Amino acid sequence: MPPGDLDKALCGIAFPSDENVIIGLDRADDAGVYRVSDELALIQTVDFFTPIVDDPYWFGQIAAANALSDVYAMGGTPKTAMNLVAFPSKTMDLSILRQMIQGGVDKLKEAEVILIGGHSIEDKEIKYGLSVTGFIHPKRVLAKKNLRPGDRLILTKPIGTGIVNTAIKANMVSEQLSEKVTRVMAALNRDAALIMANFDISACTDVTGFGLLGHLAEMVNGSGCSARIVSGQVPFIPEAEEFAAMGLIPAGAYKNREFREQMITIAEAVPRTIQDLLFDPQTSGGLLISVSNVHCADLVSALKNGGIADAAPIGDIIDSQEERIRVI
Ligand code: CO
Ligand code: CO
Repeated sequence: MPPGDLDKALCGIAFPSDENVIIGLDRADDAGVYRVSDELALIQTVDFFTPIVDDPYWFGQIAAANALSDVYAMGGTPKTAMNLVAFPSKTMDLSILRQMIQGGVDKLKEAEVILIGGHSIEDKEIKYGLSVTGFIHPKRVLAKKNLRPGDRLILTKPIGTGIVNTAIKANMVSEQLSEKVTRVMAALNRDAALIMANFDISACTDVTGFGLLGHLAEMVNGSGCSARIVSGQVPFIPEAEEFAAMGLIPAGAYKNREFREQMITIAEAVPRTIQDLLFDPQTSGGLLISVSNVHCADLVSALKNGGIADAAPIGDIIDSQEERIRVI
């Protein structure tokens, strides 16, 4: 759904809550968190979408990596999952469904998460995703808005999957690039989450449909802090820059920009293609981590040593109540 539409639709509904809700609907975050005891809280999230790649096995993997990501973004450990499936079984070969589910199950296996159920319906269009439940210590929840002035921002995956997927639909992408981008989307954020747990982190989110600046805006808004992004340090899929220059921008990128424009200042020197990339909707994107300045360099090298080659420091958190984002 376009950014802001859900808020408009749900405006006026009073959602019940209770004292054990740590993260609920009143402060939208990557996942809900509920305190079970002083040592244990439950993390719950759900996500599903229509196919973003042609290969059903890879689509299954991406859908699972994407659903698990919100648990990692809270600092938690996913444990169980349930399938959500919509499939046109009257018109489509069931082997496609099998490959899709197999992709999801293999990704869950990699993440050491157990599939314990699910639900499927007949539908004209394929949709697949999962609900995921995880655990966390109630005091270690990484809420989005806990940004701390002086912190540095680190991003763990390159930006540009929305633009490349648009180019794939226009038949302009080599098989090699298509595979590369598929692997980026299917990569779990687990290793990044495990590594960051050893450092002084104040806040975290994962970059998905609202784009890098859209998700940063969600962190900044209501945090009492501002943020600065150094566009030259943001890791991009190099080919995405070329496609952006050719105008292959998904509609979502414009909607993301429009929605957050008022709180973002972009320096004139930042090329339009880079600006578009910063709003490009991502599928199963990387973690956006707010880490103490003294730990930043060590966290980046730990991520790189852990196989997360694209991890990079991309900006910082500024002590300013204005709650604005400045891109230079
Ligand atoms: Co998220
Ligand atoms: Co989500």
